Amino acid sequence: MGSDHVRVLAEHVPGVRVVAVHDVATERAEQVAARVGARAVGSAEELLADPSVAAVVIASPDPTHAPLTLACLAAGKPVLCEKPLGVGPAESAAVVAAEEALGRRLVTVGFMRRFDPGYRELRATVREGGVGDVVLVHNVHRNAAPHPDATSEGVVANSMVHELDVLPWLTGLPVTAIEVRTPRTSGLRDPQLAVLELGGGRVLATVEVFLAARYGYDVRCEVVGTGGTVSLRPPALVDLARDGRAGPAVPADFRARFAQAYRAELSAWVDAASRGGATGASALEAHRANVVAAAGVESLQTGRRVSVAQ
Ligand SMILES: NC(=O)c1ccc[n+]([C@@H]2O[C@H](COP(=O)([O-])OP(=O)(O)OC[C@H]3O[C@@H](n4cnc5c(N)ncnc54)[C@H](O)[C@@H]3O)[C@@H](O)[C@H]2O)c1
Repeated sequence: MGSDHVRVLAEHVPGVRVVAVHDVATERAEQVAARVGARAVGSAEELLADPSVAAVVIASPDPTHAPLTLACLAAGKPVLCEKPLGVGPAESAAVVAAEEALGRRLVTVGFMRRFDPGYRELRATVREGGVGDVVLVHNVHRNAAPHPDATSEGVVANSMVHELDVLPWLTGLPVTAIEVRTPRTSGLRDPQLAVLELGGGRVLATVEVFLAARYGYDVRCEVVGTGGTVSLRPPALVDLARDGRAGPAVPADFRARFAQAYRAELSAWVDAASRGGATGASALEAHRANVVAAAGVESLQTGRRVSVAQ
């Protein structure tokens, strides 16, 4: 994700220069930096102390997100941190508190679906009353293969967290309860199916996450209202005829599916950061998604519906 953000910043976002890259895998940092004429630096501290670094993107693993975001806040630098904002709500709460103490918004969290043209039109339609009163939202989130570090809890806290951010953003309602089920009793508990209540049950939502779906990356969302439904179109621009079959090609991964979203997200962020601010999902919104994810993990472990107090 980090090397892709560097590439998008260098190739698609005007008015910004990638000056420094850090990765604990030094060679990887050197390769990524060399491609865009940046320097590889030996530590996050060194990167943050560099006066030529005006703003920071964090795309290292989840456990590094909260400590590194807190370090950016301490250095007074705008930061785009990949989702989720830390491991669990205690970590995201610490970031929210530190940003509040600072008195200005510097944190953007990488929930890029908010910048996807399809999701934006979905939201605009819903907010304009285009489907009447929303009653149901169906979400599907499938990957070809799990990340090597994937865990059963991470299916909720790292993957489903995208939908946990999107649902309140789409409907304007908080998630108030979640139940997560899986047909798997051992190993990586994947797929998982969640039923969520929003606004005390005024809206119900389903979320299927299937990390080992094999056939490709597939994200779907349909909002059902009293006056109609609105759903994302499959993003394929071409039909592929191959091996005795013809039809729309399925993207291999999130980079292909959300290419436009990442570009729009980084462009909006550079614009906001150059004015010393933030855009997109706030630390508080990302914290709320973590609170729901923690309830989802509890439900996965206990088999019970878990209420969420926000
Ligand atoms: N928004 C999205 O669509 C999206 C998609 C994929 C991944 N992500 C997020 O991006 C993050 C990275 O995911 P990935 O798939 O690229 O993982 P990855 O394992 O492929 O890459 C992580 C990189 O971070 C480096 N790293 C590890 N610890 C570090 C540290 N302490 N300091 C600096 N670098 C460190 C690793 O060497 C590696 O190069 C995750 O938090 C994930 O949730 C977001």
